[in-house]
Amino acid sequence: MDAIDVIRSKRDGGTLTADQIDWAVDAYTRGEIAEEQMASLAMAILLNGMTRAEVARWTEAMIRSGERMDWSALDRPTTDKHSTGGVGDKITLPLAPVVAACGAAVPQLSGRGLGHTGGTLDKLESIPGWRASLSNAEMLDVLRSTGAVICAAGSGLAPADRKLYALRDVTGTVESIPLIASSIMSKKIAEGTGALVLDVKVGSGAFMKTPETARELAETMVAIGTDHGLRTVALLTAMDRPLGNAVGNAVEVAESVEVLAGGGPSDVVELTLTLAREMLAAAGVSGKDPADALKDGSAMDVWRRMISAQGGDPDAALPSARENHVVAAPSSGVLTRLDAYGVGVAAWRLGAGRARKEDPVSFAAGVTCHAKPGDRVTAGQPLLTLHADDESRFARALESLDGAFSIEENGTPDLHPLILDR
Ligand code: URA
Repeated sequence: MDAIDVIRSKRDGGTLTADQIDWAVDAYTRGEIAEEQMASLAMAILLNGMTRAEVARWTEAMIRSGERMDWSALDRPTTDKHSTGGVGDKITLPLAPVVAACGAAVPQLSGRGLGHTGGTLDKLESIPGWRASLSNAEMLDVLRSTGAVICAAGSGLAPADRKLYALRDVTGTVESIPLIASSIMSKKIAEGTGALVLDVKVGSGAFMKTPETARELAETMVAIGTDHGLRTVALLTAMDRPLGNAVGNAVEVAESVEVLAGGGPSDVVELTLTLAREMLAAAGVSGKDPADALKDGSAMDVWRRMISAQGGDPDAALPSARENHVVAAPSSGVLTRLDAYGVGVAAWRLGAGRARKEDPVSFAAGVTCHAKPGDRVTAGQPLLTLHADDESRFARALESLDGAFSIEENGTPDLHPLILDR
């Protein structure tokens, strides 16, 4: 087969055959198709799309490029969640322990932040001693002893996606629904979870800015899961304002611990409980209600054991910022808008995120929101606190907040409901 023929087929609006797809993904993974040829094919896919059969085959080929994990040795069903990423989205941290405390096992392979969206592993690494890299045998041990594990995917899992995602990132080809859907689903199917709940974010702080595009992505992913025999459910949830009050790394861990202790912001609690109920139902586990796991301390107990099993100290002080800068409300009235993207970019510029994959992150950097859209604020009261290791970071972070919030004397916020659709 020839790379140029495959590229021409897609460029001219054709449908790739199963053989063309299998060959292209395999040859690219082995280095037989050059990066520039795969970049061209990815752009042709972005521009011309893929049929349901093409997406299913592309996903299958990416799964077959590496190992498939197997949790059949566990004595309980597995279930997992994937979020398409947002600002202040720390839900995995309280969610995995809650679901484990209710009787399912959660083998959660997570990622790092890139751009304005945070990464679960970066957040957890702010806990002194905590280790993201585990062997498959260590993952199984942690799952057996605690019911939940959150760690990095090993290099053997969907290596085709690892290579292709890095290429898409630098060739303007990330924003393709078939490529996003197959990328996410190849990793989740290879991870071997028995059930999957997708949290597809919608709004300025998300990949998908509108409910229509988010629904298309959700339906594509649910179709891939269903075609692979994986029970898959998707929720569309709001990402037009930050989730919770904390955006960053250590600050989000602290907020997650508040939720596990029975407190925390109501939107974080509501989304955690909604996703937990979906994950348990998809896995066929009934019995304990997730809200009870937060009340009776059993979710906190799983959290502490899970963190310790990965080398972390759940009682250690979290890193705190050397420099803080308060943004005060310029007028009195109702906070009608707090833009997720603006706050996410501010946290990123403060050092919570990275510009390139290899950059370090600052664990202490981030933003604390003191008011949520709909709250009444008084001129001069703190609206946001910016945290950084170095005060030279504040000027650019403040630029990204310019126009990111509105206060109106008697306004009402025009927001997506937290859960838009299922
Ligand atoms: N996350 C992924 O894992 N892949 C994509 O293509 C986009 C987001």
